[in-house]
Amino acid sequence: MCSIIGYTGEDDAAPILVKGLRRMEYRGYDSVGVATESENQIELKKGVGKVEEVNTKFHLEKLPGKIGIGHTRWATHGKVTDLNAHPHPSNSGKIAIVHNGIIENFTELKQELEKEGYKFQSETDSEIIANLLQKHFQDSKDVKETMLKTTAELKGHYSFIAMFENGELAAARFHEPLIIGVGEKNYFLSSDVLGFIEQTDDAVYINNGNFVLINQAKLQIFDFDGNVIKPEITKVSKEFADVYKGDYAHFTLKEISEQSDTIFRAGESTKEALKEAVDYLRHSKNIYLTGSGTSYNASLVAKYLLAKYAKIKTESIISSELQFSPDLIEPNSILVAISQSGESADVLEAVNIAKKSNCKIISIINSLTSSLARESDIVIGMNCGPEIGVAATKSFTSQLIILYKIIQELNEEIKINFEEISSSISKILEEHNLIKKIASELKEISDIYVLGRGIHYPIAIESALKIKELTYIHAEGIAGGELKHGPLALMDTNVFVIIINPEDSTYQDTLTSAREIKARGAKIIGISDKNSDAYDFWVKIPKTDELTYPISETIPIQLLSYYAALEKETDPDYPRNLAKSVTVK
Ligand code: F6R
Repeated sequence: MCSIIGYTGEDDAAPILVKGLRRMEYRGYDSVGVATESENQIELKKGVGKVEEVNTKFHLEKLPGKIGIGHTRWATHGKVTDLNAHPHPSNSGKIAIVHNGIIENFTELKQELEKEGYKFQSETDSEIIANLLQKHFQDSKDVKETMLKTTAELKGHYSFIAMFENGELAAARFHEPLIIGVGEKNYFLSSDVLGFIEQTDDAVYINNGNFVLINQAKLQIFDFDGNVIKPEITKVSKEFADVYKGDYAHFTLKEISEQSDTIFRAGESTKEALKEAVDYLRHSKNIYLTGSGTSYNASLVAKYLLAKYAKIKTESIISSELQFSPDLIEPNSILVAISQSGESADVLEAVNIAKKSNCKIISIINSLTSSLARESDIVIGMNCGPEIGVAATKSFTSQLIILYKIIQELNEEIKINFEEISSSISKILEEHNLIKKIASELKEISDIYVLGRGIHYPIAIESALKIKELTYIHAEGIAGGELKHGPLALMDTNVFVIIINPEDSTYQDTLTSAREIKARGAKIIGISDKNSDAYDFWVKIPKTDELTYPISETIPIQLLSYYAALEKETDPDYPRNLAKSVTVK
């Protein structure tokens, strides 16, 4: 989604804002802008493109002043154009705002403002915030009063930062993230700690329904009724400062390659929470699992494995679907919410619904200071470090490792060899050349299917998601047995099919599917510990415990998606139209 940032202090604001925006670009990335205040004047530059492009074109870093705001956009209302980029000035030019989220009643508010003579330059919902602030500030000449009146009128999900021409900053949070970085002689406002982590690790997490005023180095926080809120400073984990690509060409490749290490960290900082969660899972009658995208796919793996190895029945529900079927949830149950960012609006909404039915919330999260962490009863940390590549890679395997640890606690006969998993990952990662060669075959292909049975079916779904995101090639996960019930009609010489086929109880049936597909002329990539003449290409995975195959088979498909993205000249770190943390519904 969009990211917002603000700065006030003793240093020049613009270079600090641009650096913060570069760090947060993964959240959304179709346009960029910065506004600064100098000598009671607001200067503003913005345009379509990535931070680097827009900075080179408009010299954002050169804007004068020690106070400023900035934004990277992921379009929701209005096309990707220079005018729709943020910051948005108010009609008088005396206030500028940056906004993340959606203003649901913007049409009504816009019509009212237009009747009063306000003009609008952009198609965005955000611009109304600037003009509402102007209207209320003209009446009251008081920023606190202005923020109270403005937040009372806005409906939806938002966080915004407003800069007034006297240099005062005001910011509000309503169901979108907003964090203050507290430096020695400066303050930062940001959607993510990455916006300021290089400058300070002291942060104040703004509560939902609160707003902030910063004027001449004085920080005040209020709730939307105007009551004073005492700031509570938290230390941010330095681990989150590790957001460099190092020698890797892309974050995605770095994050794929880190997995032989990150699997050792999953759940480690929250061991007690994991034990507590296991206790709840053991004693609860109804357990639901939820997440979006890759995190939902991890919940599908969890459903299979908990049933098979811990005899615990669960129901996986796509987070965004729960609002349409809240009756699926029995009161007083457990909801396990899985989310890398902990900020996905759909997941937060699912949690909200479950809480209304008095459910306990166990969450599996990478960002332990996220909104989801604060909404949960028990939080288990993935601890895989910042994941910057928009497509989830290492967070998925960390989610699976946490699941294995839970299963190990639930069933004492299961002993998982984490060293073995790590060495399997390392061995597969050595296969770059083979995987690059296969990727080069995919360049002109328009459809890829991924087939698996049993526990390998959710991995097929996850693999198809990775291929779609990174390469823009249409891809679909198929449950092996379903082939004859429809997808076989699609098999011809233009198609590639990835067969997930380790030598376990699914092996023979899946090999039969591979032969049926091959007979129709499609090319087969076999992911297996055993070669077969049915495969045109064989990617060998080491033989492991049946339980841990899902991790081994995920790695080559992540790598294949990455190299196919390079072949197709797409940007693997920032796929078009996507955002890392989807904070709108
Ligand atoms: C897939 C991907 C997305 C996310 C989804 C949920 O590669 O990145 O599908 O998995 O947006 O995000 P989190 O886990 O942050 O809730």
